[in-house]
Amino acid sequence: MPDLQLRVDRAAGGLADQIAAELRTAVRSGRLAAGVRLPASRDLARDLGTSRGVVVEAYQQLVAEGFLVSRQGSGTRVAAVRPAASPDGAAPSPIARRRPVHDLTVGTPDLASFPRRAWLAAVRQVMTEAPHEALGYGDPGGVPELRAELAGYLRRVRAADVTARELVVVNGVAQGLHLVVGALARAGPIHLAVEDPHSVRTYELLESAGAVRVPVPVDDDGLDVAALRRTPARAVMVTPAHQYPTGVVLSPRRRAELIAWAEAVDGLVLEDDYDAEFRYDRNPVGCLQGLSPRRVVLLGSVSKSLAPGLRLGWLAAPPALAEAVRHARAVRDLGSPVIDQHALARLIACGAYDRHLRQMRRRYRARRDALADALARRLPAAVTRGVPAGIQLYIELPPGHDEAAVVEAAARRGVAVEGVAPLRVAHPGPPALVLGFARLPEHRIEEAVRLLADAVGSQEPGGAVRRD
Ligand SMILES: Cc1ncc(COP(=O)(O)O)c(C=O)c1O
Repeated sequence: MPDLQLRVDRAAGGLADQIAAELRTAVRSGRLAAGVRLPASRDLARDLGTSRGVVVEAYQQLVAEGFLVSRQGSGTRVAAVRPAASPDGAAPSPIARRRPVHDLTVGTPDLASFPRRAWLAAVRQVMTEAPHEALGYGDPGGVPELRAELAGYLRRVRAADVTARELVVVNGVAQGLHLVVGALARAGPIHLAVEDPHSVRTYELLESAGAVRVPVPVDDDGLDVAALRRTPARAVMVTPAHQYPTGVVLSPRRRAELIAWAEAVDGLVLEDDYDAEFRYDRNPVGCLQGLSPRRVVLLGSVSKSLAPGLRLGWLAAPPALAEAVRHARAVRDLGSPVIDQHALARLIACGAYDRHLRQMRRRYRARRDALADALARRLPAAVTRGVPAGIQLYIELPPGHDEAAVVEAAARRGVAVEGVAPLRVAHPGPPALVLGFARLPEHRIEEAVRLLADAVGSQEPGGAVRRD
């Protein structure tokens, strides 16, 4: 299946026209070559989150215009249209040509599935109903309506032990971590234990907040708490529901040991609950904070559930720390944008947030299943680790492979993937990849994995490296 790379704005309406316009441009520019078969209307409709009728209408329009041909039994194909030069006569830019055909990089959810209509309705409701005063400086810790909704949501979905009082609204987990570490490190740098490997995005962030990172290894049960005990750290950052990037879950025993460690050292656990909404084989494990609200700071955001661009998140902390963070926001930036906070509160209150999550769970689960299945068939020597959850999948390559060379070879084949070596701090591990599947529609997964398997095969250790 070709990568259609269709950009449609569902909020703008006229979807069939938009799809037709995008396909027309792709055919004219030569990006979709003559003879290429387009996805079945049902598949494309599912990927775009629209009805099949909309796609059928777009296809019919282009058949009528001569861009596509449709034949019984052989589907819809690109007609023999001569590509036109771009308006200024120049060739397509190198940047356009270098875009990966299959993007399996991590960290971003399926932005095409953002619930635009529901968000728009929530914003419209806020703008219609909120009094003028609501547009003034809000509580720097977050508007009370959102904190109340979040507290209810986190109690219900994450088994958190929290009320609106201990909650602070922040601009994502990133800002929450920065503020919490900053508060802990007020008197000078602190040792902060981190999982090894862990998200590269937090390296500089933590250090700039005053943390000296102390890497602690991760195994199949999550963070090695015995190793943590041997460090000088009294604070640790963990991703217990779905370790990033290995995908393992902190085992029940380790959860108990971690809380016991925090009690013993009079310390604190920073729980990065970045993608816990998405678990596909069972209900997600409740958050650690629910076990020990005195010892755990829970951090979460809508970056994986809605969109990272919203920059909306929360933290639940013991009251004194929550107050310190709230005070820091009052001093530094006076809080998060209030209209978006009210909109999120309404989205949760009216049930649209839960509905969106249910829909995305189904969609991501299908994508993950398709990816795991294709990997098992085409790359049987690679080992998939971790639980079925989140929006990325961790695989270990057969021993001896050069991880960076595989990433390069995949890129040359149009598949963007990320290696795990850059996320390892002090404990070496096997060559591995972390594959983000949120944005890859099911109909493209087989082809992406075929190319990835070819890239891995081209770097067979011990054998001659195959030229691409
Ligand atoms: C494991 C992990 N934690 C936290 C973050 C930051 O998230 P946010 O957008 O909520 O600041 C990321 C971002 O990709 C992440 O991968």
